[in-house]
Amino acid sequence: MNTLWDDGRLPAFARLEERLIADVAVVGGGMAGLLTAFALRRNGVRVVLLEENRLMGGVSAQATARVSAQHGLFCKRLIDDFGLHLARQYLTAQLHAVKQYRDLIARLGIECDCTVQNSYVYTAPNGPDLTPERDAALRLGAPARLVAADGLPFPVREALCFENQIQFSPLKFFAALLPGMAIYEHSPVRDVRGHLVRCDGGSVEAEHVVITTHFPLLEHPGHYSRRVRQEQSYLLALSGAPRLDGWYLDADANGWDLQQRGSTLILSGGAHRCGENPGDSFDRLRAQARLWFPQAVETAAWSTQDCHTLDGLPYIGAYSPAAPHLHVATGFGRWGMTNSMVCATLLTSDILGRAYPYADVFSPARFFPSASIEAMMEGALYAVRGKGRLFTAAELTAEDIAPGHGGIVQYHGRKLGLYRHTDGTLFAVRAVCPHRKRALVWNDEEKTWDCPCHGSRFDWRGRRLQHPAKAALQAVENWGKREL
Ligand SMILES: Cc1cc2nc3c(=O)[nH]c(=O)nc-3n(C[C@H](O)[C@H](O)[C@H](O)COP(=O)(O)OP(=O)(O)OC[C@H]3O[C@@H](n4cnc5c(N)ncnc54)[C@H](O)[C@@H]3O)c2cc1C
Ligand code: FES
Repeated sequence: MNTLWDDGRLPAFARLEERLIADVAVVGGGMAGLLTAFALRRNGVRVVLLEENRLMGGVSAQATARVSAQHGLFCKRLIDDFGLHLARQYLTAQLHAVKQYRDLIARLGIECDCTVQNSYVYTAPNGPDLTPERDAALRLGAPARLVAADGLPFPVREALCFENQIQFSPLKFFAALLPGMAIYEHSPVRDVRGHLVRCDGGSVEAEHVVITTHFPLLEHPGHYSRRVRQEQSYLLALSGAPRLDGWYLDADANGWDLQQRGSTLILSGGAHRCGENPGDSFDRLRAQARLWFPQAVETAAWSTQDCHTLDGLPYIGAYSPAAPHLHVATGFGRWGMTNSMVCATLLTSDILGRAYPYADVFSPARFFPSASIEAMMEGALYAVRGKGRLFTAAELTAEDIAPGHGGIVQYHGRKLGLYRHTDGTLFAVRAVCPHRKRALVWNDEEKTWDCPCHGSRFDWRGRRLQHPAKAALQAVENWGKREL
């Protein structure tokens, strides 16, 4: 798995080894955490940023880095689900965030390959008429217009264009914000008790604590495991493909997105709930690339995942009404670059006691039953299934596992997660997710153990790749592998 963004080296920061006092502790050094810490510091706030590993080691470095107010076919749905007032808040906050990025990049002279691009949502010849979406976008104040979009390598009915969005290199942008910041890497936060944020080697006592750990670090207050899930998507970078004039999102959420970035074309799609990999996600992406761009050469391929909330909009604000000093930003639903700027502005306003006019629609305390019920039911079903699978016997035995493959096997009355390396070596783990003790599933395509409940992932040895689990899988030793 590799990505595009190896173009900006970040400086290294020391581990936290002391007890500090600050106005705000920010936990999580991705785009949301850094932009928030940066905005607070520019307002004279003493901020400490704590990162578990290296800065930008999470999802932010895997994204396609479009800073855009157009989030798929979403304007009409926003009005239907949330009403005109809140829908306007959401869209205005996004338009404002795009402008804030542009202003910041210009003001600080940040060299981050920033280019202005058009964003399009396209629809297939037999797909939906985009006029209602255009009308909804105009009602929300977005500069939307319908166009023919005949530059794509396949026929489309029409496309809805938002002009003048931007894309950039997230690492180069991120690097420019670091000077002068109090940052500690390799400092996983173990717990937050009141105003005390504890790491292994030290702690920070802060008036406010901001949790930007992608999946919220703390389950309570707020029951975030019931309200956040993760979806995985697949991406290919291609060179030698005909150039497009921006990026194109399929109006069908199960379709393919295309993005021109310099001389590279990024093709992405195949999104599914984490843990539900159909097994051929990269094959399907590559088949699509061969069909549309037979002359192109693949230069990178990777998958990544993002958090989604029950109703599809991010949670940004107080962790819960019971803990107003604790703040959270999560559930960006694949639009976390733009929403990281919303997060920085909203949380800075909250902490400084200033009004932010678009805060209500992001409130983590909101609940819109009709927009949330389906995801709630699905989440409950996965939780029950994940528990149930712990108590049923596995269908495979160790002999069924071929080299280079893995699976859950029954072995002498025990259930094991087994991977047989291509050299024949066997690795056994307890295939139970350390997060909330649910059964893991084997992902044969990426050779990982995945949790369908909330999206934790582990490599074949059990090393953790993705939160919310905080620990690796337990390796099972002495299980009699010599007998095989
Ligand atoms: C395929 C795909 C394409 C995307 N493309 C776009 C796009 O074009 N435009 C857009 O706007 N968005 C896009 N996104 C979404 C966007 O990338 C994410 O929403 C965003 O990067 C999330 O940022 P974050 O800071 O919340 O998380 P992260 O970048 O994951 O940062 C969280 C950080 O918290 C740290 N952490 C976790 N636990 C602890 C702990 N206990 N102590 C200390 N630190 C901790 C992690 O190590 C990590 O560094 C895309 C997403 C996907 C899946
Ligand atoms: S049980 Fe929550 S991620 Fe596995």
